[in-house]
Amino acid sequence: MSGPLVLAFETSCDETAVAVTEGTRVLSNVLSSQVDMHARFGGVVPEVAARAHVEAIRSLTHRALREAGVHPDSLDGIAATRGPGLVGSLLVGFSFAKAMAWSRGLPFLGVDHMEGHLFAPRLDFDDFRPPGVVLLASGGHSQVVLINGWGDYRVLGQTIDDAAGEAFDKLARFMGLGFPGGPAIDALSETGDPDRIRFPRALADRRYDFSFSGLKTSVVTTLEKARASGTLPSREDAAASIQEAIVDVLVQKTMNAVEDHGVEIVGGGGGVVANRRLRTRLEEEADRRGVGMFLPRPIMCTDNGAMIGAAAAFRLERGERTEWRAGVDSSMKL
Ligand code: KG4
Ligand code: ZN
Repeated sequence: MSGPLVLAFETSCDETAVAVTEGTRVLSNVLSSQVDMHARFGGVVPEVAARAHVEAIRSLTHRALREAGVHPDSLDGIAATRGPGLVGSLLVGFSFAKAMAWSRGLPFLGVDHMEGHLFAPRLDFDDFRPPGVVLLASGGHSQVVLINGWGDYRVLGQTIDDAAGEAFDKLARFMGLGFPGGPAIDALSETGDPDRIRFPRALADRRYDFSFSGLKTSVVTTLEKARASGTLPSREDAAASIQEAIVDVLVQKTMNAVEDHGVEIVGGGGGVVANRRLRTRLEEEADRRGVGMFLPRPIMCTDNGAMIGAAAAFRLERGERTEWRAGVDSSMKL
């Protein structure tokens, strides 16, 4: 069983990503990252992002088809992220995909970006099959999701303020580490002491929800006080302690969901799941409980076209189509 052959586009934020998938099999998965363009502004600039998508999308589409060895005539459908994300960025991929599908008489499907992330573990692991719990942690979202079956999801908990990736990015900026902050903190932490400073773990009384805005305040005040008293920790120790505080709550809330719902399968998705410390801790906690941990390769954790293709394949097979007059939905909810 291979599933429909799909050309899939993902342009919700700052990566132009195109893939060709056959069911959950990845035939090509290409990407043009805009990280360097946004780095000098310290964050993603929506207007710059949309423009860069326009410039990259045509040649990436050719590349994805060429690498897959697929002619557009043999496609079963075309898909694109419909939301959530930056409206200008979403519009580029969505409109391009819709126009291509329309002109070739192919089915078109708009995909929820977060459903795409849920499919990421399935791309790397054939035996990732619901029911299960998935931790989604990216620059825009932090959620613990119960997958009863494909297409049947329950968001058990989410952040009440900043997303985990946003916390990494803001704290890295405060430490002068540049953008994006997650990978910078991850790298610095390698030689740091995670127990050097005990930053607060918020919302301990809630089973699945997160809050990261208090951590930011705590880090700023703690480090400023330390500087004033001449006890400033090394950058490595500060980074490792910050990372530990974020990782701790992500792991704890995920494991709460695993225990409460008795699932035997856990997955991860979103850029933050590329974090090495988070991956190690999730694996350890899953081992201790005897449940399977399915963490996609980092390249499948961050935004990519293949995850959109896999989610689209599932929906196209069920006969779903997105209407031609449909637009993007920048605040789409899972
Ligand atoms: O899923 P993603 O590529 O895009 C969104 O949908 O947001 O996630 C990007 C986020 C950024 O906040 C980035 O700092 C974070 O993922 N990130 C990481 C790591 N790699 C990317 N955070 C912690 N450790 C990493 N290694
Ligand atoms: Zn994402």
